[in-house]
Amino acid sequence: MRMVDIISKKRDGKALSTEEINFFVDGYTKGDIPDYQVSALAMAIYFQDMNEQERADLTMAIVNSGDVIDLSAIEGVKVDKHSTGGVGDTTTLVLAPLVAALDVPVAKMSGRGLGHTGGTIDKLEAIKGFHIELSKQDFVELVNRDKVAVVGQSGNLTPADKKLYALRDVTGTVNSMALIATSIMSKKIAAGADAIVLDVKTGAGAFMKTEEDAEALAHAMVKIGNNVGRKTMAVISDMSQPLGFAIGNALEVKEAIDTLKGQGPKDLTELVLTLGSQMVVLAKKAATLEEARQKLQEVIDSGKALAKFKSFLTNQGGDASIVDDPEKLPQAAYKIELPALDSGYVSNIVADELGVAAMILGAGRATKEDEIDLAVGLMLNKKVGDKVEKGESLVTIYSNKENVDDVKERLYANIEIADYAEEPTLIHTLITE
Ligand code: URA
Ligand code: CA
Repeated sequence: MRMVDIISKKRDGKALSTEEINFFVDGYTKGDIPDYQVSALAMAIYFQDMNEQERADLTMAIVNSGDVIDLSAIEGVKVDKHSTGGVGDTTTLVLAPLVAALDVPVAKMSGRGLGHTGGTIDKLEAIKGFHIELSKQDFVELVNRDKVAVVGQSGNLTPADKKLYALRDVTGTVNSMALIATSIMSKKIAAGADAIVLDVKTGAGAFMKTEEDAEALAHAMVKIGNNVGRKTMAVISDMSQPLGFAIGNALEVKEAIDTLKGQGPKDLTELVLTLGSQMVVLAKKAATLEEARQKLQEVIDSGKALAKFKSFLTNQGGDASIVDDPEKLPQAAYKIELPALDSGYVSNIVADELGVAAMILGAGRATKEDEIDLAVGLMLNKKVGDKVEKGESLVTIYSNKENVDDVKERLYANIEIADYAEEPTLIHTLITE
């Protein structure tokens, strides 16, 4: 087999065989096929696309390019959730204990990564004593016993994706639906998921800016999952403004606790119940989405979800007393209000720009070496559609430095007030097959 023939075939719009796809992924991972040939192929895929079979084959070839996590020692259907980006997204922190309270096993591998605020692990490390260094055996035992555990990423997962993504980044081939969908799905499957729930964000703060693109990506990923034996569902959700009120690590932990108590922000609560329902159905703990939702509401109302969060923290060395005393979480030295300059209705909150503002305060990492300040961030006092009087606080800034003029300037530039505005629709579409 020759790479040049594979490139030419795709250039001419023909479908690649399973063998051809395996050949190039394997050869590229090993370094036998050079970047320039894979660049050419990626560009051909960008223009000619891939059919369903090719997408399924490419996904599995990427999965098999490295280690695959074996979670077979954990009982039950392992359902993983993936959100495509977003700002101040606290869903994982709420969902893990929430669905575990219904005996859905949550065996989560999580990374730190870059971003506006830390990853799930950084947020959990805002809790004193919490650690993610678990042996494989302890991890499996914890999930079997208590249904939820989080461990740091280990192993060499999807090396082909790492090389391919870096190459796409510099060759104008990131925005191929086939390449994005296979990239995301391969990582979930390599991490051991039996079934997958996808939260595809749309809007200004999202990777997919339009609803059409978000739907197309969701459909593509659901098809791949179902074609490779991992039942997959998806939700298209709004990221035109940040989700919930909190953007920042300790602040999001507090928000997660409120939500598990049934006192969280309306949008975060709704999204968590929607995604959670799909997870519960895929894990076969309820027959329908309606039944699943009712059961989730019951474990919130009964306090079982909150109790599960406490035992999860305790199991991994964390101080569970923060659940009842959230002031034990890292606290910022200064709380600074951002008064509205006009009266009216909040009409726009640019999600990713607020993420940048939180990052300037120190809530996130710009480079891998950066240290996160767990205490700092933003609390939105108003969301899109809310009425506001001049002088009322739009945002509370949690900072460890006294002068936050740069942050205030950015916030004013990215929160708009108009004569009238309505609350945006949070859940756009559910895709269940
Ligand atoms: N996120 C991924 O993981 N892969 C892509 O290709 C795009 C976004
Ligand atoms: Ca939030």
